[in-house]
Amino acid sequence: MSEISEVVEKYKLVLLGDQSVGKTSLISRFMYDTFDADYEATIGINFLSKTIYSADRTIRLQLWDTAGQERFRSLVPAYIRDSHVAVIVYDITSRSSFNDVNKWIEDVKAERGNGAIIMLVGNKTDLNDKRQVTFEEGEQKAKEYDALFLETSAKAGHNVKLLLKKISNELPGLESRKEDPELIDVNINSTAKSETEGSCAC
Ligand code: GTP
Repeated sequence: MSEISEVVEKYKLVLLGDQSVGKTSLISRFMYDTFDADYEATIGINFLSKTIYSADRTIRLQLWDTAGQERFRSLVPAYIRDSHVAVIVYDITSRSSFNDVNKWIEDVKAERGNGAIIMLVGNKTDLNDKRQVTFEEGEQKAKEYDALFLETSAKAGHNVKLLLKKISNELPGLESRKEDPELIDVNINSTAKSETEGSCAC
């Protein structure tokens, strides 16, 4: 058996956005390649973990799926606080979810300043005939906040893998994270490479 010395970089990613915009659906598509048309509101916060392997690095992403409902709002800042990436989702068929993007981004800035990568996502592109927010408006908003931008459809699977790829490309790498050792795993003799690292509801 060949011996592989492997460094695993860990990053925390938090999904934010109004109720029903598709945060959980994006995670389901990414993790399991499934989509459920029935809506089940997220209660509190859920946590899942996914390992991404590329030619030169192994990244373990902890995905924190927050509830969009107002009554859970007070829980969110604590999860933003130690996240490296904030994915802010709106629904392209809902103008109000787009208007609320400012509020979510301000929450991230309040906790992290400019220290987190922000990715703005306009979801539900399969419902293009009901679109209330143009691609250009999304792009413009992202520019305002120096954020990355993509439109996706969790239902059709459109751009979901690209979303995670774009994020992993932006992650800083070990060299710039020497101050941050507790987030780095070092595995010696690691040969098993499962795609999904498991999940738990917290
Ligand atoms: P909260 O947990 O309340 O914050 O909602 P959420 O943002 O996690 O939304 P969720 O993923 O539960 O999706 C809400 C509803 O929108 C569900 O009925 C989904 O099936 C539907 N939905 C999510 N993504 C898409 C999409 O890309 N296209 C379409 N047509 N429906 C979607």
